[in-house]
Amino acid sequence: MTGALLAVERLAIRFGGLVAVEAASFEVREGEVLSLIGPNGAGKTTAFNAITGYLAPSAGEIRFRGARLNGLKPNQIAALGLVRTFQKTSVFGTRTVLENILTGLHLRSRQGALAIMLGLPSIAREERSLAAEARRILEFVGLGARALETGGALPYGEQRLLEIAVALAARPRLLLLDEPVSGMNPVETESFMAKLAEIRALGITVLLVEHDMKMVMGVSDRVVCLNQGRIIAAGAPAEIQRDPEVIRAYLGERYARANA
Ligand SMILES: Nc1ncnc2c1ncn2[C@@H]1O[C@H](COP(=O)(O)OP(=O)(O)O)[C@@H](O)[C@H]1O
Ligand SMILES: [Mg+2]
Repeated sequence: MTGALLAVERLAIRFGGLVAVEAASFEVREGEVLSLIGPNGAGKTTAFNAITGYLAPSAGEIRFRGARLNGLKPNQIAALGLVRTFQKTSVFGTRTVLENILTGLHLRSRQGALAIMLGLPSIAREERSLAAEARRILEFVGLGARALETGGALPYGEQRLLEIAVALAARPRLLLLDEPVSGMNPVETESFMAKLAEIRALGITVLLVEHDMKMVMGVSDRVVCLNQGRIIAAGAPAEIQRDPEVIRAYLGERYARANA
């Protein structure tokens, strides 16, 4: 037993002849923010897809709180507390902000299909408490005033916040965020960094994929760098920032000089 919340062991994902992820091993520890960085095409999203059950690994093992995830479906994995957002925004554009959140809440509804079909009083009670919780989550991400607007009508930065809110509604123990601030302006990014600190203070562990290095270096306890499907470095942000291979493959000399 390693004490890891999530353990990825020798994960490999191949698409035909293309090796997208190769023998990647890393752990996410309870309570930390771990960032996965690397150039476009490095295999970050593919690794997320395998961890969350959207893709079957070609080889390797994924364990969450000691239990094997291999073979489980995305909804089963989400129900265990491992919840993700997507690189491309996945808001239901024609539904209201509140309805979007309710989809996340229903992911962990205790009511069975039979109780719902029979329209039992417990359902109405649960619906009211879910709606109240949805309101609380919207307040938390700063979308309280937007509850009744349609998702698609929100500015892009707020749609991304809505996605986070939908994920939070599923009560994650481990939240996987795929480029949450891409497309946000600097002010939105700054405020998202503060929000991430609050999410972490709630006891939620975070696995982050992000290209914004100011954010990565500011919020992460540890950073793992992937290049062409392989992990080339893992360590504290300050170590990763001056790792020659990470600089060569991803950060670039200019970044390294500016942050030396
Ligand atoms: N469904 C797929 N079918 C074939 N190739 C894919 C598929 N998804 C990703 N790839 C390839 O796998 C590699 C890793 O992609 P991806 O995980 O999206 O990278 P990243 O998120 O790090 O930018 C890329 O070469 C990409 O083209
Ligand atoms: Mg990606």
